[in-house]
Amino acid sequence: MDEKKTAVITGCSSGVGFETSILLARNGFRTYATMRNLEKASRLAELVKKEGLDLKILRLDVTDEDSVTESIEKIISETKRVDVLVNNAGFAIFGALEDTLLDEMKEQFETNFFGSVRTIQAVLPTMKKQKKGKIINVSSMVGKFGVPFNSIYVSTKFALEGLTESLRYELHNFCIDVVLVEPGVIKSDFFNNIRLSNKSRQNSSYSNLLHTRLRGIESMLKNKASSPSTVAKEILNIINSDDSNLRYVVGEDAVFMTNLKKNLTDEEFENHMKNTILLGDAYLK
Ligand SMILES: NC(=O)c1ccc[n+]([C@@H]2O[C@H](COP(=O)([O-])OP(=O)(O)OC[C@H]3O[C@@H](n4cnc5c(N)ncnc54)[C@H](OP(=O)(O)O)[C@@H]3O)[C@@H](O)[C@H]2O)c1
Repeated sequence: MDEKKTAVITGCSSGVGFETSILLARNGFRTYATMRNLEKASRLAELVKKEGLDLKILRLDVTDEDSVTESIEKIISETKRVDVLVNNAGFAIFGALEDTLLDEMKEQFETNFFGSVRTIQAVLPTMKKQKKGKIINVSSMVGKFGVPFNSIYVSTKFALEGLTESLRYELHNFCIDVVLVEPGVIKSDFFNNIRLSNKSRQNSSYSNLLHTRLRGIESMLKNKASSPSTVAKEILNIINSDDSNLRYVVGEDAVFMTNLKKNLTDEEFENHMKNTILLGDAYLK
């Protein structure tokens, strides 16, 4: 009998998804690297060919119910199992809440939150039959604290945290583990893919503050950011470990901020943020 484990990852065209799919395939997983746009598959396909990896690239748009169902059904028909699901696909919308349209907010939730809900619902019947499975939801350090001009992105990650924490109880008896990965800033395509809300691109009364915030991110990217492969390694460790923590914090910045959030009062934490992030600094001091 084939003992190979099957892993499914969303958002593999770049960054964390790309690195995770390669790392899992290199470590013996039958890997399904999914992405919404197959025109972006060539770099991954070349590496797979060069290394002879057991990795298949499939189209999966997490906002499209049919696309999720078709891909997961195909995977299950081929392998009869899903051992690992990594919900990684995501993007960030920037702009003041006042400058963000409800439709833009819904789009953000469709990808970052409902996208994960769709894939989880699609794999659960199989994982339950197996009485085994690991679901890894890629959240963020901002899944635990707010930041300005990013409130809808932050809200999607808070929602993912609430979902994960609740789901752990529901799935415990089926031996299915659900965990959160909370990275700090990562040097991926993420910040090139930022969407500025429509109204932010016009004459906004928040322009100066928003640009100060974006400068702060640039400085984080230069100084304290982690590489996507660091996050991928943490994901592999989580999969291979018998421990089941709810949260895995990744990156020096994320560890620092998580400890700050844990150890300061709300007022002290807010003052720290006002003295750093609102002045265009990285959060760290
Ligand atoms: N970068 C950071 O600083 C940071 C920090 C904390 C957490 N995170 C989280 O880490 C995860 C990975 O981000 P990353 O840093 O690796 O960024 P990235 O390089 O921009 O990768 C994001 C991936 O998500 C995909 N994606 C977006 N919308 C999708 C959809 N509807 N269906 C399927 N795939 C979709 C993108 O595909 P396309 O190429 O087609 O757009 C891309 O493959 C995200 O959940 C993000 O929120 C990132």
